Amino acid sequence: MVERVAVYPGSFDPITNGHLDILQRGLRLFDKIIIAVARNAEKRPLFTVEERLEMIREVVQGLENVIVDSFDGLLVDYVRSVAAMFIIRGLRAMSDFEYEFQMASVNRTLNGQVDTIFMMTSKDYFFVSSRTIKEVAELGGCVEKFVPPSVERRLREKFGR
Ligand SMILES: Nc1ncnc2c1ncn2[C@@H]1O[C@H](COP(=O)(O)OP(=O)(O)OP(=O)(O)O)[C@@H](O)[C@H]1O
Ligand SMILES: [Mg+2]
Repeated sequence: MVERVAVYPGSFDPITNGHLDILQRGLRLFDKIIIAVARNAEKRPLFTVEERLEMIREVVQGLENVIVDSFDGLLVDYVRSVAAMFIIRGLRAMSDFEYEFQMASVNRTLNGQVDTIFMMTSKDYFFVSSRTIKEVAELGGCVEKFVPPSVERRLREKFGR
């Protein structure tokens, strides 16, 4: 049988419990998931790509069938290069929908072999985004409900707390 491989792309700056929830649920659908950090997505990231990869590796260690990688350039080219057939994206609010719909449509046009699979956020995470987490952490708020402990520690270090 053909292995069902999916790429889960994003900036993961940093990875949150919302991302991990999608990952864990995705593992029930796919044989292998490649978390792929986009190198060119964010112009002013808080964490370098290497720091982000390190944090992701820390929190997914022990999860079988998960690979952590980064990519440059077009997502569909990367997806093809790792012989994946699916892209996983999480959906929170309507505000995610328009952008995701555009991206999925463009990617489908660029590579008709690849399908984007959307997974609905869980109720506990629908308001969790990397951006919000960074804002709260920067202002000294507690983010331990929203990110793994190792990420929380890194955020405190980054903001000198
Ligand atoms: N809490 C969440 N629930 C469901 N999906 C999520 C959640 N957070 C992120 N995602 C999804 O994960 C994928 C990668 O997202 P990304 O790395 O841009 O994270 P983000 O939290 O949206 O970050 P940013 O705030 O920088 O945009 C996207 O499909 C995004 O919709
Ligand atoms: Mg986003």
